[in-house]
Amino acid sequence: MYGSRVFKPLKSRRTGRLAGTAAIPGDKSISHRSLILGAMAVGETRITGLLEAEDVLNTAKAVSALGADVLRDGDGMWRVWGRGVGGWSEPKDVLDFGNSGTGSRLMMGAVATTAISAVFTGDASLRGRPMKRVLEPLTLFGAEYEAREGGLMPLTLKGARQPICIEHEVKVASAQVKSALLLAALNAPGTSRIAQRALTRDHTERMLEAFGAKIAVETLADGGEAVHVTGEVELRPTAIDVPRDPSSAAFPLVAALIVPGSDVSIPRVLLNPRRTGLIETLKEMGADIRVFNARESGGEKIGDLIVRASSLQGIDVPAERAPSMIDEYPILAVAAAFAEGRTTMRGLEELRVKESDRLAAIVAGLRANGISVEETEDGMIVEGRGAGGVAGGGTVETHMDHRIAMSFLVMGLAARDPVTVDDVSMIATSFPAFEGLMRDLGAAFLPSP
Ligand code: S3P
Repeated sequence: MYGSRVFKPLKSRRTGRLAGTAAIPGDKSISHRSLILGAMAVGETRITGLLEAEDVLNTAKAVSALGADVLRDGDGMWRVWGRGVGGWSEPKDVLDFGNSGTGSRLMMGAVATTAISAVFTGDASLRGRPMKRVLEPLTLFGAEYEAREGGLMPLTLKGARQPICIEHEVKVASAQVKSALLLAALNAPGTSRIAQRALTRDHTERMLEAFGAKIAVETLADGGEAVHVTGEVELRPTAIDVPRDPSSAAFPLVAALIVPGSDVSIPRVLLNPRRTGLIETLKEMGADIRVFNARESGGEKIGDLIVRASSLQGIDVPAERAPSMIDEYPILAVAAAFAEGRTTMRGLEELRVKESDRLAAIVAGLRANGISVEETEDGMIVEGRGAGGVAGGGTVETHMDHRIAMSFLVMGLAARDPVTVDDVSMIATSFPAFEGLMRDLGAAFLPSP
């Protein structure tokens, strides 16, 4: 299905208690934005704690192909010399974003109001993901594009020579689309207004403020927000210390909950309220997760987590919570399998257009491991088997999706029989240290023949 892809399978098996400290790498969303905003500022942006995973490295390559100078000083330490808003030059080659929806869509936004053309492409998964959701509103600024049938990559985006500011409501619950429009607005004269009903992650807004953009957020009567951004202002470089990624922390966190006797600490995790839906949900399920030293770092809330093995109960997860945990449903579904009783998840239409059709991939993975689950139009209902009740023994197809791979490897750590994942190579797109970090906590992984 995916051409000449070489599969790298891995198996996980029942493990004694997990213990120790998990040093999670930097947040993926903030890492992409650090490089892009750094490349749009004038002067030197210093970044520490950058996530050095394939997705983010592709964004680094893209901004350097557009004229920014990007230098790696050491582990997670990077410097970017930006060219200013609208100051990028035309890339001499295709921009390849690999597996990354975030990198590619945010960069489309920034290119859309710059007087250059660029060709965007990615791997087989990214080339199957919808791009019209971002391209169509970008044409309102004056950009033009040509894409494959259905608005798919590879595509060429021609930035507006004379951009105009816009008023637009983003109907999909997507932070990527909202962010692309905010970045495009930076080079359009006047003030653009971008509204969205869903409260998606707000890192772009926070970081634009730190880079000195003119930005204001209005709360709307329907519970949504409208972001006002004034264009043609110079961004001033800043220092960014990237907090650790809660979406990656989710894997050792759930592993610690389901492996009996575990006690794991996860320091310096990003606790932005628009990213903490999983922690909230797991606590409602009875999870012993404690937050210590809650503090601010670079305009974001962070804290240290201590997680202990817990008996979980199935719950009804509110649909409105979906944007704050959109990447966490695969691992939540695994936690739900180990809970007593039924867990219902709704409002998950967006999962159909992630790195894979995640709803279908989760359901297939659960069934392969002896869990009854009903797939609905916009969600799933998982019949939990309680601690010790998950059979395992199945092989899971990851469909080039890193989060499916990591979630089911976690399942195998507490299932009766080992769980095999057909391909773990995509884990490198977001969390290259996953296997080593989990082994250090005591996880048992076996290469699968
Ligand atoms: C992201 C937004 C989300 C999320 C992705 C990162 C971002 O995607 O799934 O992993 O950094 O803005 P959508 O905007 O498509 O929901």
